[in-house]
Amino acid sequence: MKILVIGSGGREHAIIRRLAADRPAPELHAAPGNPGIAQLASCHDVAVTDLDGQVRLATELQPDLVVIGPEAPLVAGSADRLREAGMTVFGPSAAAAVLEGSKSWAKEIMAAAGVPTAGSVTVTALEELGAGLDRVNPLGDVPYVVKADGLAAGKGVVVTPDRDAAIVHAEAVLTAGGQVVLEEYLDGPEVSLFCVSDGTRVVPLAPAQDFKRALDDDEGPNTGGMGAYSPLHWAPDGLVEEVLEKVARPTIAELAARDIPFVGILYCGLALTSHGMRVVEFNARFGDPETQVVLERLTSPFAPLLLAAARGELAEDTQLDWSEDAAVTVVIASAGYPATSRSGDPITGIDEAEADGAHVIHAGTALNADGMLVSAGGRVLSVVARGTDLADARTRALSATERIGLAGSHHRTDIARRAAEAAAGTEETA
Ligand code: AMP
Ligand code: GLY
Repeated sequence: MKILVIGSGGREHAIIRRLAADRPAPELHAAPGNPGIAQLASCHDVAVTDLDGQVRLATELQPDLVVIGPEAPLVAGSADRLREAGMTVFGPSAAAAVLEGSKSWAKEIMAAAGVPTAGSVTVTALEELGAGLDRVNPLGDVPYVVKADGLAAGKGVVVTPDRDAAIVHAEAVLTAGGQVVLEEYLDGPEVSLFCVSDGTRVVPLAPAQDFKRALDDDEGPNTGGMGAYSPLHWAPDGLVEEVLEKVARPTIAELAARDIPFVGILYCGLALTSHGMRVVEFNARFGDPETQVVLERLTSPFAPLLLAAARGELAEDTQLDWSEDAAVTVVIASAGYPATSRSGDPITGIDEAEADGAHVIHAGTALNADGMLVSAGGRVLSVVARGTDLADARTRALSATERIGLAGSHHRTDIARRAAEAAAGTEETA
């Protein structure tokens, strides 16, 4: 089977790595890919935002399947363009990807489908802001949750007890011409569950947990994700079935009823609150870095699953097999991330990290004019390790991370720590 994957990040490297492990191994192409992906696939110099180029490349390659990784091309209509050109595509149409592209539209779909989520108000003008905050946080109850309505690479959300800081963020989004969604605060641990859909049927992958804040102990600003682990030993029994029943199936059905079939990954970002499970956000694609740990544990063939969904032929009784192993990933971010990011710094130690029992996923890397591997983005590498349990996987991932040299870089040291301690019985809860 010939597969073209669109994207250049850690998620796409993890997808390609897992596709390469299928037997028989598919012929893999990436556009544009990255230096890590280039070790497993033929990379083609077509940018993620170059939809014409993607159509030209696919027409030339004639792949059996195109997998679109990132949200930007999905929201821009890459899947539609490729389908018009006769391709079999895993990834939603622009119309369906609005589920990620607009948080206010996602709220409307959730309301119509009866999906549990945080109460919210959408604000479109500065003069509505004060009243909006008073409605969502009526007793001055905090924290405030202020979200840019459009795509923001995980960085458009501010959660703060400080009303002035909430107002500053909302004003920045509004004066830049955007809308703001103000949300009720959801307490409780977060879970990411990726659901494969063919437009009507839904098959869940294994749940994972992502660490969104930049610094240890969930301090610092929100990021695209600084680390992840799977499985979640602490998750309640029946969680996946509950998410299917209350969230994924009703959402897919609501979209289908509006003639907007969703083919691809419905990423359910959930909070397990004291009042029950709630949707924090939907995304229209695999999560990054959760994909790195979820696919690390998937033992069933991967390409046939994506192909069946892309063809609208997913069997709802599909039972996927998962390794008993735990997987942990630690993201190495460049100096200044997430506010800024520094590029062009040399990266060393990948071979040493891999000799240490981990593998290194490239997220934001490039080769410079001298052929040297350098940083090229905010999240640079994602070091993945598996182990017999979370504590084991975590130790391996952190030890391998220490082998990497990248000037000014930072990473979290507490990824999966509480869950590993809880699994080992040293703490009551995760
Ligand atoms: P989002 O882009 O909507 O996923 O938000 C990014 C992150 O902000 C989430 O993963 C949460 O950690 C946090 N967050 C978003 N919405 C809420 C909420 N209503 N209550 C608490 N935390 C939230
Ligand atoms: N890790 C969060 C995301 O992919 O949106």
